[in-house]
Amino acid sequence: ETTRVGIVGGGPAGLMLSHLLALAGIDSVVVEVRERAVIERTHRAGILERDSVRMLVDAGLDRVLRDGHEHRGIDLRFGGASHRVDFADLVGASTWLYPQTDVFLDLADARERDGGDVRWGVTDVEVSGVTRDPADRPVVAFTDAEGRRREVHCEVVVGSDGSRGTCRDLVPEASRRRSFREYPFAWFGILAQAPRTLDELVYARGPEGFVLVSSRTDEVQRMYVQCDPADRVEDWSDDRIWSTLQAGVAGDDGLALAEGPILERTVLPFRSFVQEPMRWGALVLAGDAAHTVPPTGAKGLNLALADVRVLAEALERTLLGDDADALDAYSARALERVWRTQHFSYWMTTLLHRLPGASAFDERRQLAELETLASSRAASTHLAECYTGWPTG
Ligand code: DHB
Repeated sequence: ETTRVGIVGGGPAGLMLSHLLALAGIDSVVVEVRERAVIERTHRAGILERDSVRMLVDAGLDRVLRDGHEHRGIDLRFGGASHRVDFADLVGASTWLYPQTDVFLDLADARERDGGDVRWGVTDVEVSGVTRDPADRPVVAFTDAEGRRREVHCEVVVGSDGSRGTCRDLVPEASRRRSFREYPFAWFGILAQAPRTLDELVYARGPEGFVLVSSRTDEVQRMYVQCDPADRVEDWSDDRIWSTLQAGVAGDDGLALAEGPILERTVLPFRSFVQEPMRWGALVLAGDAAHTVPPTGAKGLNLALADVRVLAEALERTLLGDDADALDAYSARALERVWRTQHFSYWMTTLLHRLPGASAFDERRQLAELETLASSRAASTHLAECYTGWPTG
């Protein structure tokens, strides 16, 4: 078999790329080791930047405008008080609550409707033929869901196989740089059967550290509390979860979260990671395959979509316009946003979490930073700009 672009990984990055390439008349084959139904049941973040929404709508995927919820700000809580950061007022932008699962569903449906070539549930994916020379043709080999071994010959391979993917290992050690950061905390995330308490998100620095209150539907709420990375789900009783959440958001306005049965519990890992460059020979990386951000600020999906926006354009110029340099520019252009996003996610994380063993100085300094953020229009504007997303042009 042959195609122009072989895409390893059928998450939002791989599917969106395949969708945009199809709109430009470029064939691709997507291979994904998970079954579609498994991805549909995976809970990820829920906030879309302004331009992520625009990208979906421009690509003909406008369910977000009907089923999503526009958020014009966030509630920043610390020291027992609420401070609203009004994105609409500060930067004339908003974000949308629309779970990644729904973005995935929209993309998977669109690929199916348009006759896109997506192979779910494949095994033993092996990419070969990637060398320093971009003219060398790579091959994506895999065993399909019926057990047949297949080989897809392509001009470019896109590694969009996520944070545990292996495509990035195809770049020899001497030709890449990996940057890591670990954090001494993690999130304990729950889905609870309860009504929505607030229409917008709460980001709080509570007595036990970070608390985030988000939502999924009118009946199901998504919440996170800071925990130890070594915690197991059994370590947290329902009482402990609710009391940590309630204490985290408590304030002089008497805010109390509606409680209900906990439907799901997960400990979410925290780390920062970047592999550079994002292109080597005929291999390009996109999304979590190239970079991971800690979840604070919900940038993971948005950054993956931003990569894809730049990559789709570069591939069009390379494959339709014979502009061999276009793909070269992809890595540098994407990495600029990747690093700005790394900084923002790191900053939001360190701003709101309690560092185990923090000194009195550290604690007071952190509260002072939050005070500055909440009381200065310039500082709040910075947060609003980063959170709603830098313009993508
Ligand atoms: C959600 C997750 C985040 O990391 C965040 O910053 C905001 C919302 C969520 O799951 O809804």
